[in-house]
Amino acid sequence: MDLGIRDRIAFVAGASRGLGRAVALELAREGCRVAVCSRDPGRIEEAATYIREAAGISWEHVLPVACDVTDEAQIEEAMLRTVGHFGGLHILVTNAGGPPAGFVDDFDAAQWRAALELNLMSTINLCRHALPHLRKAAAGDGLARILMITSVSAKEPIPNLYLSNVARAGVQGFAKSLALELGPEGITVNTILPGYTRTDRLVELAEAIRARTGSSVEEIERGWAEANALRRIGTEAEFAAAAAFLVSARAGYITGTALVVDGGRVKHLL
Ligand SMILES: NC(=O)c1ccc[n+]([C@@H]2O[C@H](COP(=O)([O-])OP(=O)(O)OC[C@H]3O[C@@H](n4cnc5c(N)ncnc54)[C@H](OP(=O)(O)O)[C@@H]3O)[C@@H](O)[C@H]2O)c1
Repeated sequence: MDLGIRDRIAFVAGASRGLGRAVALELAREGCRVAVCSRDPGRIEEAATYIREAAGISWEHVLPVACDVTDEAQIEEAMLRTVGHFGGLHILVTNAGGPPAGFVDDFDAAQWRAALELNLMSTINLCRHALPHLRKAAAGDGLARILMITSVSAKEPIPNLYLSNVARAGVQGFAKSLALELGPEGITVNTILPGYTRTDRLVELAEAIRARTGSSVEEIERGWAEANALRRIGTEAEFAAAAAFLVSARAGYITGTALVVDGGRVKHLL
């Protein structure tokens, strides 16, 4: 299926590894020009090289930008660099690392604020600074998309992930509000909620649980897999395929939705 996004311009945040990088690669394979950001200049350069090689595309079609998405000034600068390099913006994918695992007594107010900055405020600020460019795209050739990477914890809180549970719920509220406001302008806004997917973040989570419970990493992963209808942990490529569809021309009538990509972990009817 041709997703209809050849030569469109995308910005993918939190893209030096894991889900963000996988989405950027999928978009590059679909013919998008892609700006990728993360905090570390070396890591994001490496990711850009990986994406160019894996997608078999030329050097200038992937722009690595060092940007900490908790810093609004860096977001503004990253958007301007992207638009300066590629000449516009059609697709924004928001993302960042996950906050630490823990229970209610494990975090002080500063840690709560840091998690909200990392996962909620970064999303809001990325959208705010992308919006003028997305509005131009919508008014011009008509394709403008926002996709926010959140977590299944937004639908069904995960017991040891307080910080994530709360920040993601805020993102869902923001996304739905934005979808309603931007719909008349033809800009779609959706969220995509990964379940357990094999990335470095998953290794960190397993390690945190191992340290607390003494269970082995293998036992923990087996438990995660068995909670899913498909009885396995997902792959980055499976997640990226769903994300690419949601930002594609083919998904023109989908907005305000929250798509779980979790192998059937969430048990709600709807
Ligand atoms: N993998 C899963 O099973 C799963 C399940 C549910 C939800 N999620 C959520 O989905 C998101 C992505 O997951 P993942 O597994 O891909 O995580 P990951 O492997 O930890 O990758 C996170 C990415 O975000 C970048 N990043 C972190 N902090 C940043 C910041 N302040 N500014 C800019 N970039 C930043 C990291 O690069 P640098 O270090 O170079 O900045 C890295 O590229 C996370 O929020 C995670 O909690 C993941």
